[in-house]
Amino acid sequence: MSQDQITHQTTFSEKSIFDQAGLSGIPNEELDELVDLSGGSASILRRLAIRKKFGEPNAYLRGHVTMMGRKFSVDRRCYIPDQYAEELVRRVISDAPKNAVVLEVGTGCGWISITLKLERPDLTVLASDIDPGALAVAQRNATWHGVNVPFLESYFVDDIVSVVPDLIVANIPYGGDFEYTDQEMEERPQMPSIAICDPAGVVKPLVEFYKSVAAKKWAAKIYLETGYLPAERLKPVIETCADAEHVQNGEYGYVVLT
Ligand SMILES: C[S@@+](CC[C@H](N)C(=O)[O-])C[C@H]1O[C@@H](n2cnc3c(N)ncnc32)[C@H](O)[C@@H]1O
Repeated sequence: MSQDQITHQTTFSEKSIFDQAGLSGIPNEELDELVDLSGGSASILRRLAIRKKFGEPNAYLRGHVTMMGRKFSVDRRCYIPDQYAEELVRRVISDAPKNAVVLEVGTGCGWISITLKLERPDLTVLASDIDPGALAVAQRNATWHGVNVPFLESYFVDDIVSVVPDLIVANIPYGGDFEYTDQEMEERPQMPSIAICDPAGVVKPLVEFYKSVAAKKWAAKIYLETGYLPAERLKPVIETCADAEHVQNGEYGYVVLT
């Protein structure tokens, strides 16, 4: 690392800490954030630098992300949320009927459910995930934000027996064989693999999710993040629905299924 990559002035040598950790090729702004997070402590900076060397994304080192203006705790037990999914959540906030029961599937750190409950206190919001580690993070976030959202362990909706939802929202793994950004390439190997890609292949998890919901015979409307997947790729999910709206959000998108 060259001296001009270090922009902070401190009493100890950030450069030597980064050099000793063997960090290379990390963007300046990420290193600057480690310096900020260290609060001027050489030992904290060393620990952060070593974790960074092993590929830990800044979101985990920082310990939180900001989604729709609120902080949510994240660690390696959960997925690092996607900014583009905020669009889906805004849509649910505006569409959900008054006093509706909303079930979120694949909640990860819980930010979607918690945001829905905070923005629309009239809603009854429940959330599920297959991964107990993620559910523990979500519960911590709900406590932190002072909201009551039950978090349930379930394979998609198969194990949900306590409610009949009016609306289902999900940002679950949809797989991807597209080009990832540098940030995604850094984050993906560190996140729980069950949160990212199903070895069954692209779109397949969405099909399985839809089957799980359809088997319940609920009349719920489904709001499903579809990320980079173009409408064409979503046919296996869409073709069995009575009605499907694909909303393009820049290079991302979601579907509303009835
Ligand atoms: C892409 S992450 C998204 C997490 C969160 N919704 C968000 O937006 O940050 C997908 C989540 O779905 C969960 N998941 C994966 N397969 C699942 C399944 N079969 N049933 C329930 N949840 C599942 C993962 O554990 C993970 O938390």
